[in-house]
Amino acid sequence: MKIVMLGAPGAGKGTQAKMIAAAYEIPHISTGDIFRANIKNGTELGKKAKTYMDQGLLVPDELTLALIMDRFTEPDCEKGYVLDGFPRTIAQAEALTEALRETGDSLDCAIDVEVPDEDIVSRMSGRRACLACGGTYHIVFNPTKKEGICDACGGALSIRPDDMPETVQKRLQVYHEQTQPLIDYYKREGILKSVDGTQEVGKVFASIQAILA
Ligand code: AP5
Ligand code: MG
Repeated sequence: MKIVMLGAPGAGKGTQAKMIAAAYEIPHISTGDIFRANIKNGTELGKKAKTYMDQGLLVPDELTLALIMDRFTEPDCEKGYVLDGFPRTIAQAEALTEALRETGDSLDCAIDVEVPDEDIVSRMSGRRACLACGGTYHIVFNPTKKEGICDACGGALSIRPDDMPETVQKRLQVYHEQTQPLIDYYKREGILKSVDGTQEVGKVFASIQAILA
């Protein structure tokens, strides 16, 4: 199964993608998580990506495409994958369609998690993330059992540097300009599905399971 998650920053793509990956035993591939791991490890890619991410801008397509095409060559991708945060521009979507077409393959569906901009800032300000395993929580909507500690791996939680309110506004603007057009792109491809992302986490997942059934 090959799935793309669409939605604004903070819509819950990562939260749902992790649940899909666990339920359907496919890898969860988040370009944002891969960039953050590179920043943490001080790689050249991480240094380049950080300058864009900290401003709420997209990392250039060449860097992102090289990274994801390399990831697709890993053996776990044979079972399919759930893509979270990729594609994010029409050029990335076209490159993905073309790469799949070359092997006679295609995506199964693109799931748009719909959340209005008004809800996004409060979600981001309460988000806490685990840099060790990518776990994502919210101090009110999705709290950990022990404050500040990741339920999944016991790592320390932190606030993402791009979750400052001004940066969130910029990310929303960039989303509307560059990523929202993908909704029409996948509608035209006939594989777009939408879910109401304002429901609680378990209900959003139930809606996704109904789509994938
Ligand atoms: P990325 O890491 O992909 O960030 P994003 O798209 O801005 O999305 P987020 O991870 O912030 O939100 P999410 O939708 O995953 O929501 P989450 O589940 O955490 O990208 C970061 C940066 O990397 C980009 O700005 C860009 O610079 C760069 N980048 C990445 N990919 C790129 C690409 N392809 N091309 C170019 N640049 C790229 O949920 C948010 C919060 O809400 C959490 O606290 C969560 O617990 C809570 N929550 C989740 N669901 C619910 C619910 N149903 N109700 C209440 N709260 C909820
Ligand atoms: Mg995410």
